[in-house]
Amino acid sequence: MGLTNSTYSVFLPALFLPLLCFCFGICTCTNTITSTQFIQDPETITSTDNAFKLGFFTPFNSTKRYVGIMYNFPVASEPQVVWVANRDKPLNDSFGTLKILEDGNLAVLDGKKELLWSSNVSSSTTNSSARLLDTGDLVLQDESSGSKLWESFEHPSNSYLEKMKLSTHVNGDEKVLITSWRSPSDPSTGSYSFGLVPLHIPQLFLWNGTDPYWRSGPWNGQVFIGIPNMNSVFLNGFSLVNDGEGRFYLNFAGPSKSVYIYYVLNSSGTLTEKTWAVGKQDWEVTRGFPKDECDIYGRCGQFGSCNIEDSPICTCLKGFEPKNKEEWSRRNWTRGCVRRTKLQCDRNNTKGEEGKEDGFLKLNPVKVPDFAEWLNVRQDNCGSQCLNNCSCIAYAYYQGVGCMHWSGTLVDIQKFSDSVGADLYIRVAHTELDKKRNMKVVIASVIIIGSLSSVVSAYFTWKWMVKITGLHKQHLDWSKRVNIIEGIGRGLLYLHRDSRLRIIHRDLKPSNVLLDEALNPKISDFGMARIFGCNEDQANTGRIAGTFGYMAPEYAMEGRFSERSDVYSFGVLLLEIVSGRKNNSFYQDEHALSLLGFAWKLWNEEKIVNLIDPTIIFDRFSQMEVLRYIQVGLLCVQDLARDRPTISTVLSMLSSEIVDLPTPKQPVLAEKETCPHTVHSQHSQQTCSIKDYSLTTVEGR
Ligand SMILES: *[C@@H]1O[C@H](CO)[C@@H](O)[C@H](O)[C@H]1NC(C)=O
Ligand SMILES: *[C@@H]1O[C@H](CO)[C@@H](O)[C@H](O)[C@H]1NC(C)=O
Ligand SMILES: *[C@@H]1O[C@H](CO)[C@@H](O)[C@H](O)[C@H]1NC(C)=O
Ligand SMILES: *[C@@H]1O[C@H](CO)[C@@H](O)[C@H](O)[C@H]1NC(C)=O
Ligand SMILES: *[C@@H]1O[C@H](CO)[C@@H](O)[C@H](O)[C@H]1NC(C)=O
Ligand SMILES: *[C@@H]1O[C@H](CO)[C@@H](O)[C@H](O)[C@H]1NC(C)=O
Ligand SMILES: *[C@@H]1O[C@H](CO)[C@@H](O)[C@H](O)[C@H]1NC(C)=O
Ligand SMILES: *[C@@H]1O[C@H](CO)[C@@H](O)[C@H](O)[C@H]1NC(C)=O
Ligand SMILES: *[C@@H]1O[C@H](CO)[C@@H](O)[C@H](O)[C@H]1NC(C)=O
Repeated sequence: MGLTNSTYSVFLPALFLPLLCFCFGICTCTNTITSTQFIQDPETITSTDNAFKLGFFTPFNSTKRYVGIMYNFPVASEPQVVWVANRDKPLNDSFGTLKILEDGNLAVLDGKKELLWSSNVSSSTTNSSARLLDTGDLVLQDESSGSKLWESFEHPSNSYLEKMKLSTHVNGDEKVLITSWRSPSDPSTGSYSFGLVPLHIPQLFLWNGTDPYWRSGPWNGQVFIGIPNMNSVFLNGFSLVNDGEGRFYLNFAGPSKSVYIYYVLNSSGTLTEKTWAVGKQDWEVTRGFPKDECDIYGRCGQFGSCNIEDSPICTCLKGFEPKNKEEWSRRNWTRGCVRRTKLQCDRNNTKGEEGKEDGFLKLNPVKVPDFAEWLNVRQDNCGSQCLNNCSCIAYAYYQGVGCMHWSGTLVDIQKFSDSVGADLYIRVAHTELDKKRNMKVVIASVIIIGSLSSVVSAYFTWKWMVKITGLHKQHLDWSKRVNIIEGIGRGLLYLHRDSRLRIIHRDLKPSNVLLDEALNPKISDFGMARIFGCNEDQANTGRIAGTFGYMAPEYAMEGRFSERSDVYSFGVLLLEIVSGRKNNSFYQDEHALSLLGFAWKLWNEEKIVNLIDPTIIFDRFSQMEVLRYIQVGLLCVQDLARDRPTISTVLSMLSSEIVDLPTPKQPVLAEKETCPHTVHSQHSQQTCSIKDYSLTTVEGR
């Protein structure tokens, strides 16, 4: 007995399917397989929002049938298969069924009722059902207890989807790996795999068989520091969670409901990021790892460094030379480099050489080598600890990661064109150091400069975060917060309007706001600022850099920035200051993806008072003012740039010069709604019409 008429779900645009079901009164929209309802080739089931379907398919240039989950969007290309059940045991006939067995397992059987695949869990239930969720996860559930027996997200094929947990345990158990297909026409387990390695410092790895083929560099709490531009565009939605019991997992959330992103490890070993936005003809490959030859693990061998813009791409680290000059000159880098002058540590000192200690040479930002060990020491001790330990041959310090030491060998160092990565200090013999500079000076300056800058930034970051969250964790009363918010607003007004040049800051966030003793804010770090000409209202950039959570959607997704994208960042800051919570501290909350999502939810539920930091003490009058601030904040973070007020309007609103505030529209990161497709299509229309708007509507004071 079948349920779904697959022709409908295959040929009709997903958006119209619910309508169709409604009109014809036939329910072809089930998302569930139960003990009494199964599907048989070529039937399918679809997720409630129609984004995914589960059913039978034949890969390109193959004759075999497989059961899999695929995206159900009306695109030009072949369906994007994201999971395959019987990948290692194909169906030879087209009489396959997908059903619940008597033991409660989900199974694929062929025409001869032979078992090809099963979820293979031992359970006592006889009444279970399998449901295809809107995330693309297929979940087998015990109907009597409601407990989850099995889910496809814990047994992935070659695709890594939003909300999927790429997990692993420090002891090596419970590893969830993505594995490639053997070829585009053969889904069986191929030789490439992709997963998380939590040892020392968490990193992502891609393997060819058991050999590492690519790695992401260390996780710094927000991004993997070996991936350039990760803190921009789409990759920024990642979060890495340590459950406290040794299990780590990585998951991600896309930038908006109208954009779908997933990662697929293809059969030639490239991890590709694929993106589809509602209204687009087809999926686009937006990134690939490894991205070039230098990105391949250990391309230049031991103690070699790779730079894709150099020719040849490999060079030995300073103080090192090719192990085999003839091979190296033929561009065979496999043997790598060796040290030119023995370290003092490795020499048996003669009297004359005593005291000539080794020193460190600095390599400007690089993807730091593999096998870092993590030391729980402060930045100013990181270098001296390394110097005092003969096993330590290099060190680096990176905010959010901490002190890293290396011993033995240095492999997989890559130099990027822009200053991504961490400064790496390599231990070399005294004679290798620049003669004019005394080693002590090098070390001392490293330590002093390093600690000075970190102290300065740490001081302000500390002041900011600690005081704002009110836990000093001396808490900030409402008038001080008003002072800070207005100060930032006036600073922005100066940049946009009052200074001789019109400046778009592009990276407004808490760490770029410095507070002095009297808590007066100053906007800092103009590293990304752009000066606009008189007649220029918006600009595009191909190189999007910024900080997740503070970047306006049109900037993050399309590189379009304007005064209103700074206003967006200001809105996020404002809401953070009022609520005492960081925008991106919400990832694990099922009900809201971000502070904005949370605020929007409360706003709709008319419980916006709950957003206010509970440590703020106020009377009825100041409560009105706080609520007004929140409303202005929500106006600043509206999805469409043209809906956001200019900063001068914002200041007038805050000071009550403008009394009647508009009702805010939904910000882009708000939580999912029950009817996403109407939102999608509406959204795409709005996005299209953005091109036509101009920024001339400046409300008067
Ligand atoms: C399809 O498969 C056949 C046999 O396996 C092979 O010879 C042919 O090149 C393939 N075609 C494409 C387009 O890959
Ligand atoms: C399908 O055919 C292949 C090749 O003829 C055979 O090796 C395989 O066992 C068959 N599978 C099933 C399930 O019959
Ligand atoms: C099912 O799981 C058991 C142990 O959990 C394993 O021994 C067996 O090989 C599995 N069967 C299949 C068909 O995967
Ligand atoms: C299975 O459980 C569901 C929900 O509890 C119930 O409606 C259904 O009748 C049960 N089916 C069988 C065969 O027991
Ligand atoms: C993966 O390893 C195999 C076997 O060692 C090799 O033939 C293949 O070229 C490697 N793939 C890549 C992309 O290097
Ligand atoms: C894998 O992806 C890379 C990058 O997009 C592409 O060049 C390559 O052709 C793909 N390989 C296959 C087998 O599709
Ligand atoms: C590069 O050198 C290694 C080690 O000497 C050797 O095994 C390998 O065959 C060489 N590769 C090429 C392409 O010559
Ligand atoms: C240094 O000398 C000692 C004793 O003479 C010897 O045991 C040791 O192996 C030597 N170390 C090196 C690195 O040559
Ligand atoms: C020196 O470094 C090695 C390797 O990093 C480490 O195992 C050892 O404990 C360190 N020794 C001291 C005294 O810190």
